[in-house]
Amino acid sequence: MSLRQKVADKSAVVGVVGLGYVGLPLARAFHQAGFKVMGFDVDESKIVALKEGRNYLKHLGKDFVADMAKSGRFEATANMGRLGEADAVILAVPTPLGPHLEPDMSYVMRTTQDVAKTLRPGQIVVLESTTYPRTTRDDMLPVLEKSGLKCGKDFFLAFSPEREDPGRKDFDTQTIPKLVGGIDQESGQIAYEMYKHAIKSVVLVSSAEVAESAKLLENIFRAINIALVNEMKVVLTAMDIDIWEVVEAAKTKPFGFMAFYPGPGLGGHCIPIDPFYLTWKAREVGHATKFIELAGEINRGMPEYVVHRLMLALNKHGKAIGTSKVLVLGVAYKPDIDDLRESPSFELIEKFKDLGAEVDYNDPHIPETPKVRRHDLKLRSKDLSPEMLASYDAVVIATNHSDYDYALIGKHAKLIVDTRNAMKGFERRDHIVMA
Ligand SMILES: NC(=O)c1ccc[n+]([C@@H]2O[C@H](COP(=O)([O-])OP(=O)(O)OC[C@H]3O[C@@H](n4cnc5c(N)ncnc54)[C@H](O)[C@@H]3O)[C@@H](O)[C@H]2O)c1
Repeated sequence: MSLRQKVADKSAVVGVVGLGYVGLPLARAFHQAGFKVMGFDVDESKIVALKEGRNYLKHLGKDFVADMAKSGRFEATANMGRLGEADAVILAVPTPLGPHLEPDMSYVMRTTQDVAKTLRPGQIVVLESTTYPRTTRDDMLPVLEKSGLKCGKDFFLAFSPEREDPGRKDFDTQTIPKLVGGIDQESGQIAYEMYKHAIKSVVLVSSAEVAESAKLLENIFRAINIALVNEMKVVLTAMDIDIWEVVEAAKTKPFGFMAFYPGPGLGGHCIPIDPFYLTWKAREVGHATKFIELAGEINRGMPEYVVHRLMLALNKHGKAIGTSKVLVLGVAYKPDIDDLRESPSFELIEKFKDLGAEVDYNDPHIPETPKVRRHDLKLRSKDLSPEMLASYDAVVIATNHSDYDYALIGKHAKLIVDTRNAMKGFERRDHIVMA
């Protein structure tokens, strides 16, 4: 039976490599669509959890994988030698940055080599990891074709960017429209037909390169607009104008404006990272990505701005930061999730400590801080109480989790540095400083 027929009657086995924030919901989407799904990951603890029907991604809910484990149509394995058993192999492995902001393609290339080892006629390979344009064609295709098999004839290859937004309530994997672009027409078409079973709206574009570039455009658009609003925050705050009210006001325009919000710096696995994939690739074709660089510079300066605002605020209270006790609220990079990748809170805490402050944190989603990149804070989340809040010289709101009782915080904290407008609506303002 041809791959196309197997896709049509859902007898194709779908393999997902990398069962993290992107891969796990995707595996579930194909499972719910009726396919047999194989999940591959090098992290044995994830494989064990999935076999037991245990979900390790808190924001997806406790029972997220329970039905998969029981169905007899899902198998999790760390054995990459079994990749040949899947008719479709979807790669959702990390694409981080190296120490000099260069793309770290080691995960993608390692999994591509794993796929190549067992590649057989009638398989389709789809890359979902965010990356620079031409990765699928220039980096993956030659490795796969080394097998002697020909793309578009023996096997198929496509790119389909992931638009997952963990913690989002109004959209999920199945309802976020999905782009698909093939290395050739047949590859694109088969990928399109496969995703159509699992995702409500699938958009087939003319090539893998268009799909790769569209993903970068989306994230660069965000990074730049966040930088713009951060820059306006700094200027307007100096003029005693509330940036948050300004954004709300501008938002009333029904066209031509999209609201972005300021913050203490960029976080997460996407926005602080993906734009620099293009910056790196652009050099190869003799171009500079000035917008991206400028946005990066502004966004990376935000933690320093928060430190500055905290120092001024403490000073007004007759305090020096070096002799102050500071509590940071929220170390996840955004509200109501436990993802702390690239979270600016880590940098804030480190900067406060470097200046001599005694620093604690609270985060209902993160009981202790693991080592992330160069940060190894070794802190445990402190329980909040009126006495505890009152014992700090300043409370810095870095993440506006909805679990927080902001009235309690406002009532008992001596000084609040609010980077998220979390204290909006709290009447007493003399102890609140926006940053
Ligand atoms: N997290 C998001 O919100 C998001 C959104 C859109 C796009 N993306 C992109 O999706 C990709 C994956 O991101 P993520 O957030 O799911 O990462 P993640 O770290 O949550 O998951 C990646 C998984 O891949 C596994 N892995 C690593 N190396 C492997 C290998 N050689 N073989 C098999 N498994 C391996 C890891 O153990 C991990 O479970 C990245 O390119 C990212 O930029 C992420």
